[in-house]
Amino acid sequence: MSHASISDYTQAERISTTIYADADEACAHVAKAIGCLIRERNAAGKPTVLGLATGSTPVRLYRELIRMHREDRLSFLNVITFNLDEYYGLPGDHPESYRRFMQDQLFDHVDLKPENTHVPDGLVAREEVYASCQAYEEAIREAGGIDIQILGIGRTGHIGFNEPGSDATTRTRLVTLDSLTRRDAARDFLGEENVPRHAITMGVGTILDARKVYLLAWGEAKAPVIMQSVEGVQTDSIPASFLQQHSDCEFCLDAAAASHLTRARYPWLVGPVEWSPEMVRKSVVWLARKVEKPLLKLTDEDYAENGMADLLTEKGSAYNLNIELFNITQHTITGWPGGKPHADDSSRPERANPFPKRSLVLSPEPMDDVFCLGGTLHRLANQGHEVTVAYATSGNLAVPDPDARRAIELIMEIGQERSNQDDVGFAREVETQLDAKGQFGEDTKDIRHLKGLIRRGETRSSARLMGIESSQLRFLDLPFYEEGRYRRFKRTEADIAVMVKLLEELKPHQIFATGLGHDPLSVPAICFEVLRESLQQCVWGDWLKQCRIWLYRGPGAEWDTHEIDMAVPLSPDEFDYKIRGIYQHQTQRSQSPSTLRKSASDSWNLASQLNRTTAEIYDALGLPEYEAIEGFKQWNLKEDA
Ligand code: GLP
Repeated sequence: MSHASISDYTQAERISTTIYADADEACAHVAKAIGCLIRERNAAGKPTVLGLATGSTPVRLYRELIRMHREDRLSFLNVITFNLDEYYGLPGDHPESYRRFMQDQLFDHVDLKPENTHVPDGLVAREEVYASCQAYEEAIREAGGIDIQILGIGRTGHIGFNEPGSDATTRTRLVTLDSLTRRDAARDFLGEENVPRHAITMGVGTILDARKVYLLAWGEAKAPVIMQSVEGVQTDSIPASFLQQHSDCEFCLDAAAASHLTRARYPWLVGPVEWSPEMVRKSVVWLARKVEKPLLKLTDEDYAENGMADLLTEKGSAYNLNIELFNITQHTITGWPGGKPHADDSSRPERANPFPKRSLVLSPEPMDDVFCLGGTLHRLANQGHEVTVAYATSGNLAVPDPDARRAIELIMEIGQERSNQDDVGFAREVETQLDAKGQFGEDTKDIRHLKGLIRRGETRSSARLMGIESSQLRFLDLPFYEEGRYRRFKRTEADIAVMVKLLEELKPHQIFATGLGHDPLSVPAICFEVLRESLQQCVWGDWLKQCRIWLYRGPGAEWDTHEIDMAVPLSPDEFDYKIRGIYQHQTQRSQSPSTLRKSASDSWNLASQLNRTTAEIYDALGLPEYEAIEGFKQWNLKEDA
């Protein structure tokens, strides 16, 4: 990149924004700043006041602070903390309360004085809420105001629980949660109907009073709202945009969360760019979509008028560029995701040989496989490849209690009919545990085991529809998942050992995987890290040298067209199979009344929408028109290392 300073690329940005290599690097930076301030204040005998956030985003920051406390003797004795928010109606010891979260993730592991930690009280009586919020504000003032405020961001653009509609003057108060926020929290609460409707949150104004603000965001799901906050106008429909008013606010992002910023998405619009093949592809596809023309109809004027004149000069003419891009895109399309035997493969995404291939599909949770690549699975199986689908985790946390009860009753009835006291005893035991835990309690090991078995059953019948037999399925039940809960998972060597064993045993020719660019504490991202580390630990044998890794985007998302290296079209029939396959995962049907009413947000609709959209874009670019397309991006392990 030449002749352009960083300010050229960031000219569209209204908040100081840094893109870090990953969440760990960003957290190390913020933890260092916090550590320096605490040490400075400790030396001067003064307190440090921190504003803290919950959610999966700051978990790594807290881990780093704990490490600094243990290894670098950073003392929190003089630190006072104020948390942003708390669900209204939850006691502090509820597993999903933010008080409990903070105790588990930070407070219990450092030398903070309990009386110096403040989290809004979720149980204060309605008539006392106002006074209690005033008192919270007063306590912050008395402590001298917040020195450093840590923020995450919700997909509605909320900070704390300041949902759309919250303006810059708002203070600590009781708020109603947005339906998207409640849906995002549904997994934690095992169903949207269990998510509290209200919360107490510091206001946007309270946050703006902090002397320094760091907003952290990881993963592509946050990318749209980050772009709107950083580059959009200040508006109460994106409360985080009010941070533009703050004189010392920094957004700390990973590449995925920054991916919608102009400098990442359309860099040619804000400065000169190095026209790498990827950049050419990205920009030309963007241009075609923008001017709504197929690739082969783009003109010199289209390029020149849209900041791409230098590319035109480099390539000679629109004609050359158009043909180049058309061919590249066309060559991504294949009905043979395992390679077409005995065919010329010089312009196909996957090699013809060896045939059949050992294809390993890694599914972070059951259903991700059929949801994201059901059509491809069906083709691989039909075309005679040796397919293994490995489910990294059991997915038991996502099974609602009523489904577990139904299974218990079934086991009990069969046990009674056959006078099998063991079965009856087991069913009774699990039933008692289920009664004891109540609506919000944590599942016991037995309950989780049973729920895992329920998902295995659904998975088998779904796979059968794709032409995959039970003997081809592996349930890895990775320990990080079995021993953890959402937003708090921690992978260990034990997870990697399981994956290495599988890889060494199967020696696959191709692996289909997902999780790159996801929120680092999400199940797909952790599974991807486990795969990445396992591949690095495998003996660098022939199989690994020849193994191709195909990344699918999902769940719930699809690659941008320019990122797709292999596009597998689905016929209407195959598409029907896929949808039926998704339907087999009955425990994963939408549970919430709002989504039941609007079947548009039902998961099978989402899958069909994504695959259809990709097909529509290919069509609009002037390529063949298909019913649906599943897209994959090749990932090079060697480059990664
Ligand atoms: C909740 C919290 C926010 C947090 C947001 C994002 O709504 N009240 O403070 O920023 O979730 O959560 P996560 O970090 O898990 O994506």
